[in-house]
Order: sequence, then structure tokens, then C-alpha cells
Amino acid sequence: MSEAIAYERVGDIAVLKAQNPPVNALGVDVRKGLLAGIERAEQDGAKAVLIYGEGKTYFAGADIREFGKPPQEPWLPGLCSRIEATPLIVVSAMHGTALGGGLEVALASHYRIAVPSAKMGLPEVNLGILPGAGGTQRLPRVAGTEAALEMITTGRHISAAEALEKGIIDRIEDGAPREIGLAYAQELLAQGAPRRAVGEMPAPEAVDFDAVYEATLKKGRGQLSPAVAVRAVQAAAEAESFEAGLKRERELFMELMDSDQRQGLIHAFFSERAVSKLPELDGVAPRDVASMGVIGGGTMGAGIATAALLAGLPVVLIEMTDEAAAAARGRIEGNLKGALKRGKISQEQYDQLTGDALTVATDYAALSAVDLVVEAVFEDMGVKREVFGKLDAHCKPGAVLATNTSYLDVDEIAAATSRPQDVIGLHFFSPAHVMKLLEVVVAEKTAPEVLATGFALGKRLKKVTVRSGICDGFIGNRIMNAYRKAAEYVVLDGASPYQVDKVVTGFGFPMGPFAMGDLAGLDINWAARKRRAPTRDPRERVPRFYEMLCEGGDFGQKTGKGFYVYEEGRRGGVPNPEVAALIAKDQEQQGVSPREFSDAEVLRRYMCAMVNEAAKVVGEGIARRPLDVDMVMLFGYGFPRFWGGPLKWADLQGLDGILADIRAYAAEDGFFWQPAPLLEQLVAEGRTFDSLNKGS
Ligand code: CAA
Repeated sequence: MSEAIAYERVGDIAVLKAQNPPVNALGVDVRKGLLAGIERAEQDGAKAVLIYGEGKTYFAGADIREFGKPPQEPWLPGLCSRIEATPLIVVSAMHGTALGGGLEVALASHYRIAVPSAKMGLPEVNLGILPGAGGTQRLPRVAGTEAALEMITTGRHISAAEALEKGIIDRIEDGAPREIGLAYAQELLAQGAPRRAVGEMPAPEAVDFDAVYEATLKKGRGQLSPAVAVRAVQAAAEAESFEAGLKRERELFMELMDSDQRQGLIHAFFSERAVSKLPELDGVAPRDVASMGVIGGGTMGAGIATAALLAGLPVVLIEMTDEAAAAARGRIEGNLKGALKRGKISQEQYDQLTGDALTVATDYAALSAVDLVVEAVFEDMGVKREVFGKLDAHCKPGAVLATNTSYLDVDEIAAATSRPQDVIGLHFFSPAHVMKLLEVVVAEKTAPEVLATGFALGKRLKKVTVRSGICDGFIGNRIMNAYRKAAEYVVLDGASPYQVDKVVTGFGFPMGPFAMGDLAGLDINWAARKRRAPTRDPRERVPRFYEMLCEGGDFGQKTGKGFYVYEEGRRGGVPNPEVAALIAKDQEQQGVSPREFSDAEVLRRYMCAMVNEAAKVVGEGIARRPLDVDMVMLFGYGFPRFWGGPLKWADLQGLDGILADIRAYAAEDGFFWQPAPLLEQLVAEGRTFDSLNKGS
């Protein structure tokens, strides 16, 4: 017997227990063990088989680490068919998360029971594939076509109660999976219950699959797997036999398995988990954080306070005046009301979070007991240094002092205190209680346990937490500035902002750079441009149409007009007809003769700028690994997950082609398009960015 599956006889029942921590993934040893277990049960006269998992879960799915490698027998689809075909009665008892291949093994069993807390689902589309072990054929047979389509195309996890209601499981019982499974199997045997194979059930009803396919494709913004999965479910309804349906599912599965999107999504899955594992923090204990201070109650400060409250941390928020403090409280209450409305918290929790858990004050003395403070005041070095001087005076020894600056030098801020070892950057993204990204910015003197505390806080707030060194804009904003510039250059040279936005959303971003500028407020970027102007390199090309728009008082959504015109009651904007004239004027003043750009060239330039700057960020050690950049762009900037991140995308396109294009663009503008030394090195050595992630 394989060690991954333990075999035991309890009366007439052969018990197969999965023991493959941490999540009982269906790796080759587990599959071998299940097959051997079924065969042995048949040989030694058992009448029923119980399958369950030891530890925290039933099988959480196929072993994702095996994807892309040569498959090893027995394969999961064949194993599921073998389980289903046995003359013995097979019962699966589920707890934890029965996902993907896990739920498929359960569907190949003849009866299913689960504990009340069990969750189940077919999340394969989120990994760029589809349920490939009969899930697209068996689920619609038990749950109906519509319910199966919904579960398979979204990958949503459902509760045991919902699974019971949908007919996916037969029973819910409280207790240990082994005990409830054994009792159920004994009962079935006592009743003389028949073997009940889902594959032998009638085909599910057909629906308008073409319409569902189109709608799913559109919703996926370029992601293919959910739409392809629709075709597999279609085969369940329309193929001439169950076996023919399985065959079609297999073909479609293999198509997706070979796709770049599958590689991108799997990269995202593992990187999301690897990103917050820092070797330098091995054995470093974080400081205890049982309460938090926030300085400044604007949108950002209120968002940070909301995130902390929702994570169970009491908050003391400091504002400058009583009116500002009251407004900050109002913002936090508004955020929490949103959480209440969406059912994330109860009325009782709302009352507690806006009552005892939240203090707003105007005196820094109120911070004397907090363990960690995040400053979120106006982005100005003088103001920040003044705040940190006060924090130094009022906070207890050992308190972590964090700044939420997006661009400023954290070393300089730390120098305003007598305890720079306690100072760190915690760069949240607005709205901070919604956005998943947290950049933890390490200053020169930051103590290791303070860095560990930043990561522990990120985990507690359920953020994807990424380490960044110090530079202008840290990882994310620095890269964003580069690709935004590339977008402005193509517009100055002849593309329209609307073409750029369309191309960028076509790639899978939720918004293009010009619509994004309108949303964030063009004046914010205008101020940053003015700040940088005196130190700007004279070789830098500077498009002026952006400023011209701002000079006319058009700041985007908040003034009703920017690159787009926004009408009340209408979602999104329509192109602002005045913009073309501003661009033409800019071109004339700068002596630019506009030319046409194909959509492909617009995208290529945008992406090359992003990859090149990202390579500089990694090469300079601002980000430790390419995957750190990828996760920043995924969780902070809307980069499409199915490409895995800009550096994974670059690997998939081929780094030599990207470098060649950057060199070609450099012939027009050698200052902006300076190839990153790391990119040149990787190309020279024939390596990928991903090769730098290994061993992390
Ligand atoms: N294969 C391999 N490793 C897996 C895995 C899988 N299916 N699922 C989780 N792991 C690993 C994680 O990488 C992590 O490893 P490290 O500790 O080394 O980082 C460890 O198990 C624990 O995982 P989490 O940190 O995510 O733990 P959690 O308790 O927060 O969540 C979970 C557990 C809900 C199962 C979550 O891990 C998850 O969603 N896993 C993916 C489930 C999935 O997508 N299954 C479908 C697989 S595809 C399939 O089955 C295809 C098919 O039909 C043939």
C-alpha cells in the first residue's frame, strides 16, 4: 500500500484514509494508493469503501505542483472512473475543502456525506484549466446544468448546506469524517442500498450554451478557461454517451493545460503564497500588536482604520481639529456600514467597532498605549517629519512607527525620530479596506522584528504583503510611472488616449491609464509633475497635454471632465471632445508629426515600458524577486491575473524579443528606453525572470 493512503477494514467496510499533508492534494502517491485501496477492497471481500482525509481536509484538489510535468499514472480521470465502476458501494465523507479533483473523487463515489463546515467547489478555471476528472460531466448530472455552469465558470466554493440543497451531497452530519462516514456506510449496507454511479445517470438538460459561452467570455475580460469549461458542460448534455462527454472534457482540458494562461494563473497561485515568505525573517518573532494608531482621517487613513477594525484591532485615530476628527469618524462608519450591508459584519459587531473599538482624538497623547501607528497625512516631507517628531515624543518604547507615504524617502522620515530602528513604510492602496496589496518598505535602520511585524500585520489584515526597498514610488508606483509615460508618449506621437485605454482594457486591465488618471484625479499627478520639474533630466521628453487639461480646471471624475466627460447618473465617461485639440497643440509646439499606431504597437510599447522598469526594480534590489513585482502589479494595479504578472508575461513572450523592441524604440528616444541591465543579462544568459524566483 502507498503511505499516502492508509487501508483498514472495519467489518464489511474498507476504509481508505488520505494522509498527505498539508491539504491531501491528489499527487501520484495518493492516486496510486486510492487505486490499490479499491482493488484490495474488492479482493478481500469488503462490501463498501469509505474514503476520507486525515488532518484539516478531504482532498483539496489535484497536486498543482505536477502541472506542466509529464503526467504519471494512474491519472485522475481514469482513477475516478475506476472508483465509480467498482461493484462495492463507495462513500466519501468530506470535511475542510473538497475542491477540484477532490470533489471529482467525491462525485465518482456513490454516496456523499459532509460535516456542516465543509466547503466544496470546482475552482479549476482559476488555475487556467477546467475540471478534468469528470467534474464537468458528473456535476451537471447531480446538480443540473445551470447550477453546474455557475459553479464551474466561477470556481465558487459552496457550503455543505448549499451542496445538499443542490443535490451534490446526500447528507450533512456533525462529527469526525471517519465516524460519520462509517455510520453512513453501515446504514447503507443495512438498507441494502444500491450502488449509485453518477456516470450512469441521465444526461442533464441542454441550455443555450452559445449564449452562456459568449457571456462567460465577456465576463472573463480575456480569460479563456471559464468559457472553455462551458463547452465541456455542453458535452455532458449533448454528447452521445457519458464516455464521449468525458473524452470531450479531456480534449478541452489538455488544450487549456498547454496554454500560457494556465502558466500565468499557476504562477499567480504559488507567488501569492511565496511573496510573504522572506528567508531573512526565519526565526524572527514579530512584536505583539494589539492596538493601532492612525494619523490622518482622510480617505486613506479612514480606510486603514477600517481594515484594522475589521481585523479586530482597536484603533485610535488622530486628526488636527474636532471637525476633522468627526469627519474621519463619519468616513469609517460609512465604510463599516458598507461591510454591514454586504453581510460581512453583524449589527452587533458594527456597534462594537464604531463604539468601544474606535477612538478619534486630536491630541497625540491618546497614542501613548498603542503598539503600532500608521501615519497617513499629506504627502509632504516637512509635514511627515513633524508628525514623526510628535510620535517619537508620545509613543511608548517599542511601538512600531509606520508611514504610508507613496513616494517619499522613509530614511529621511525615520531620521526625524530618535528611534529609526522602529520606523517602517506601510504603503496601503486606496481604498485600504478593499485593496489587497500592502507594500512593506524597509528603511536603512529598520529592525528585523519591525519588518516581521509589518508582515504579521499584513497577514492579519488579509493583505498580499510585499517587501520593497526605498526608491521614488517603491515597486508599484515607480513601475506605473514608467508605463504611464509610455502611454503619454504614444499619444503625443499620434495615438489617441481612447485607443490606448481600449488596448489596455483589451489586454485585461480593468481600466486604461487615462481613465485611471480621471478616476484618481489628474491634479494629483499634476502636482507630482510640478514637484519633479526642477530636477528633471533635460533629455526627458515631456508631453504637455496632460497639464493643459489641468490648467483648464479639468481634473477628471471629480470635476465632471478630464480625458472623458462624466454625466450624472451614467456609468463611465465618454471621450472629451476638447482633448484632441490640446494634443494637437502640444504636437505643434513640440514639432511632432503625428503618425498612426496599430493596437499591437500601442500594447507592445506599454508592456515593454512596464517590463523594463520592473527589471530595473528587481536588478536594483528594490524588489527581491520577479514574483514580488508580479504580485504588486496583480493586487495593486489590476494587472490581469491570467498573465501571472508583467515579468511572467515577459517570460511567456520571450525576453529576447522584448529587449530587441526596447532597443528599437531607443533609436527614437534613447533616454526613456534605456534597457534594464538585468534584462540584458538574462537575454545574454538565455534565462527567464522565473529562474530568479526559484529557491525562494
Ligand atoms: N496542490 C499542491 N499544493 C497545494 C494545493 C494543491 N492543490 N493546495 C494547496 N497547496 C499547498 C499550498 O501551496 C501551501 O503550501 P506552502 O505551505 O508550501 O505554501 C499549502 O498547501 C497550504 O495551502 P494554503 O496556504 O493555501 O492553506 P489554506 O488553509 O489557506 O487554504 C486551500 C487551503 C483552500 C485548500 C487552498 O490552498 C486552495 O485553494 N488550494 C487550491 C485548491 C484547488 O484549486 N484545487 C483544484 C486543483 S486543480 C484540479 O484538481 C485539477 C483537476 O481536476 C485534475
